[in-house]
Amino acid sequence: MEDSVRSKILIFGGTGYIGKYMVKASIKLGHETFVYTRPLTPQSNQNKVNLHKEFQSMGVTIVQGELEEHEKLVDTLRRVDVVISALPFPQVPDQIHIVEAIKVAGNIKRFLPSEFGVEEDRVKGLPPFEACLEKKRKIRRAVEEAGIPYTYVSANCFAAYFVNYLLRPHDQDREDIVVYGSGEAKVLLNYEEDVAEYTIKVANDPRTCNRIVIYRMPKNILSQLELISLWEKKTGRNFKRIHVPGEELVKLSETLPHPDNVPVSVLHSIFVKGVLLNFELRENDLEASCLYPDHDYTTIDQLLDVFLVNPPKPASAAF
Ligand SMILES: NC(=O)c1ccc[n+]([C@@H]2O[C@H](COP(=O)([O-])OP(=O)(O)OC[C@H]3O[C@@H](n4cnc5c(N)ncnc54)[C@H](OP(=O)(O)O)[C@@H]3O)[C@@H](O)[C@H]2O)c1
Repeated sequence: MEDSVRSKILIFGGTGYIGKYMVKASIKLGHETFVYTRPLTPQSNQNKVNLHKEFQSMGVTIVQGELEEHEKLVDTLRRVDVVISALPFPQVPDQIHIVEAIKVAGNIKRFLPSEFGVEEDRVKGLPPFEACLEKKRKIRRAVEEAGIPYTYVSANCFAAYFVNYLLRPHDQDREDIVVYGSGEAKVLLNYEEDVAEYTIKVANDPRTCNRIVIYRMPKNILSQLELISLWEKKTGRNFKRIHVPGEELVKLSETLPHPDNVPVSVLHSIFVKGVLLNFELRENDLEASCLYPDHDYTTIDQLLDVFLVNPPKPASAAF
């Protein structure tokens, strides 16, 4: 795909948390952009209606349909070159409908399934997290079996999402911060705008075809304790650290009902076990900041400066 002939990109889940960033990045980078979204109804949430209008004003083509509408999917796929799925975790298995439609359409140059987290073929979590990873792995295997050109993206932690969850910057009265395990495991916090922009670049890059791309930006590697110290320096405040031992997370993963047992298992893998960085990149792996050295990504230090002046809304219920 030459830069002068920019690919047309179809995004599933484009109205969602990370999907919105992807749609904006796709438009910013000059791609004709399509979003496949469930139909609006009189009961649709006003925010969703407004988002559709915003997308339309940006020039996005919105296709309303269900994942089960095979003909509509095939027709939509035939209008584009590249497909990015940002469907939420519960809909990961439903991506098989996209895989089937891509096989029939026959024109798709690249498919990025909904991943954007840990490198699931090299990470093993507690059983509730492992079950989630297994669903994502199954889609990988279906894509490979179908011979669809793919790129798998391991974006690691979304920075705004996790900083918001860990530090709760909007809460000015807060005196303590929860630390998972010892707080010393290194993690990777990558800002959502960068995740989205790298993903659009990756989806169109001949170097990334049938490869795994890991977003391991060097300035975004730090431990929870380092993150808290950095925040203390910026805010001029001191926070009491409340440690939740790893064993307590294990126990909660065994006793909480599904799906509440999933977030504690994810926290255990990332913050206690340090799974984001406990493997070396292989010769075949690609790393985003190396692929695109000209992209000036937002560092975690810079993101905290933004949150200091403009704290994000309270964290959503996911964790
Ligand atoms: N690395 C990280 O830190 C991190 C954090 C969060 C998520 N993730 C990953 O990022 C990916 C996207 O997650 P997200 O949280 O951004 O998704 P999300 O916001 O929960 O949902 C994305 C969109 O999917 C569509 N959708 C929701 N329910 C659906 C259903 N029942 N059937 C069909 N479509 C449905 C909706 O779009 P319409 O209403 O327009 O159809 C929704 O806006 C997932 O793979 C997730 O695991 C990673």
